Amino acid sequence: MGQRSTSVSWRCDAVVRDVRNSRSSGLGRASYAGVVPQLTASQALTRASLTAAAMGVAGVGYAAGIERNAFVLREHTLAVLAPGSASVRVLHLSDLHMTPGQRRKQGWIRELGRLEPDLVVNTGDNLAHPRAVPAVVQALGPLLERPGLFVFGSNDYFAPQPKNPLHYVTSAHRRVHRVPLPWHDLRAAFSERGWLDATHRHHRLVLGGVRVAAIGVDDPHLHRERLGTVSGPAPGDADLRLALTHSPEPRVLDQFAADDYDLVLAGHTHGGQLCLPFVGALVTNCDLDRSRAKGPSRWGSRTWLHVSAGLGTSPYAPVRFACRPEATLLTLVAGRRHAPSAPPVLAAAVAR
Ligand SMILES: [Fe+2]
Repeated sequence: MGQRSTSVSWRCDAVVRDVRNSRSSGLGRASYAGVVPQLTASQALTRASLTAAAMGVAGVGYAAGIERNAFVLREHTLAVLAPGSASVRVLHLSDLHMTPGQRRKQGWIRELGRLEPDLVVNTGDNLAHPRAVPAVVQALGPLLERPGLFVFGSNDYFAPQPKNPLHYVTSAHRRVHRVPLPWHDLRAAFSERGWLDATHRHHRLVLGGVRVAAIGVDDPHLHRERLGTVSGPAPGDADLRLALTHSPEPRVLDQFAADDYDLVLAGHTHGGQLCLPFVGALVTNCDLDRSRAKGPSRWGSRTWLHVSAGLGTSPYAPVRFACRPEATLLTLVAGRRHAPSAPPVLAAAVAR
């Protein structure tokens, strides 16, 4: 290292000496410029602008043409079940934003059937086109044969609208939902195949001997949640107490945590959709903090939150950067935290 530093220093000295010699020897400015080309301010600005524009075009091309279709399966293991419970594999899907022509996405989702999860949870925003219901049902295909739970999001109820891209990174949203989508048809298709609508409902399931109590709310992004319909202490005799919401609004998460639910599943954020490497999401499109834009995190001392980055985008913002479209396979295992105030006898009674 010492030798290299000396060498570099010597070369720098040589350059400086050459410049001094050229000046003293009467060589003109043009002669020196021939060795180290100098740009005028406007030329430098033009070059910088062209470079930035080329990088921008390349970035948009990558985000729209490559990463938007680079689907990935993420996996996490969460210790949320009551002690002694067998493990449960939950496939979490969200934000498909499907249009009829998205064959690659439909094929990728259909392949997920091979995972044969114990439970599929869909947290909404399935549709991005009035005629997309058959495409969604066909893509889910074998997954509809598995036990399933779902809630809907704004993009099940209303068609996406073009909007100013700047609104993506500002809070200047003026939401306009005018064109309804056929969510009744989608709900009927899911229900006919056996999936359970958790919107403002309590459900009980048994998955391989694991007793599940599940609730959900309508989309808080549209202020449709009616927490009073499902609030109250989570059933103590369930091995997994599960709560669903499309948008992970803190006011809803707080209620689920206060009621002692073990796991909350949500979507909506798209993981930030346009992220910066080493920084992460810039926005969550809701009141959730950016650090929780995707993946698992704690909400309170006993509740886990998992936010899916989702599989799609609005057709009017068809880009993803540093935030690949995803499905998530959650392996739930025993290890639920007990309420600190619960006496040991009560804790033992809750455990299976
Ligand atoms: Fe979405």
